[in-house]
Amino acid sequence: MTVDEEQQGLKDQITIIFSHVVAENTPKGLAAQKFAELVYEKTDGRVKVEVYPNGILYSDHNELDALKRGKIQMIAPSYTNMTELVPEWKVLDLPFLFHDYDHAKAVFTGETGKELLQYLDSSKLKGLAFWSNGFKQMTSSVHPLLEPADFKNQTFRVMSGDVLKKQFQLLGATPVTASFTDVYSSLEKHQFDGQENTLSNIYSKGLYKFQPYLTLSNHGFLGYSVIINNEFWSRIPSDIQQQITEAMLETTLWNMDESKKMNEIQLEEMKKQADVSIYELPIEAKRRWIEKFKPLYEELEKQMPDNLINRIRKTSS
Ligand code: LMR
Repeated sequence: MTVDEEQQGLKDQITIIFSHVVAENTPKGLAAQKFAELVYEKTDGRVKVEVYPNGILYSDHNELDALKRGKIQMIAPSYTNMTELVPEWKVLDLPFLFHDYDHAKAVFTGETGKELLQYLDSSKLKGLAFWSNGFKQMTSSVHPLLEPADFKNQTFRVMSGDVLKKQFQLLGATPVTASFTDVYSSLEKHQFDGQENTLSNIYSKGLYKFQPYLTLSNHGFLGYSVIINNEFWSRIPSDIQQQITEAMLETTLWNMDESKKMNEIQLEEMKKQADVSIYELPIEAKRRWIEKFKPLYEELEKQMPDNLINRIRKTSS
């Protein structure tokens, strides 16, 4: 095919393959579908977004590579899994950084969000938005996790990110990195004592079946960077780029509110599970967790540019 023919092809119909690893009935799964619908509407059918959920195409450990090689065009990995490429995003994994959903929304959709997305520009990738899943909770198969001492000598599954590893080390636990697609089977085989995740992921993937102790700690935030292959993007005509950008903005604002609602609904579903005991993290215990995490803040304050941590903390919703 000549370049002209190829461009003609792009003019007629563009297909974006969007691969992700979570269930369809989750904040990311629903946002991906909504984005696909909006893009189709706004471009009068010229762009078709094909969504592949549940890691059926690629896992969280190889989707980035597939995107870079142009095998797929879009992914929405957790920002945690991207921190090797974009170290500045480590800041978003700091425990107890976000006060509530409105705060996370203000950071992700405001000036700081824009600034953070730009750190991706030097790679072959373009960051379109940050999406939200929600606050992470702690689960265990051994005992309730309330005091820092409860974590001692326990193993926890983590995503690939230094901050999460250190978070568990500071609590005296051993973090083990594992792909999301393996979490269910690893828990089933008792390869870890516990894990952290959102209610939405714990519920939709059935992780609670092997983790009877759930602490509503809201200690961390699981968010996503929505990324497109830059070379592919640059070949899309600018009027269509504009329509895709509008669809993304609309989806992002919807996702931020929807993720809060979904986690609330799925908490109610979790409460109906007879084998799961749910604990609130007492405020005094939370203070002791925060005390443990101080070295992590001190370390990142030295690494992050331009007072980034404080600017995030002070972003008003
Ligand atoms: C996890 O690995 O626990 C999450 O990042 C999965 C996801 O994409 O929500």
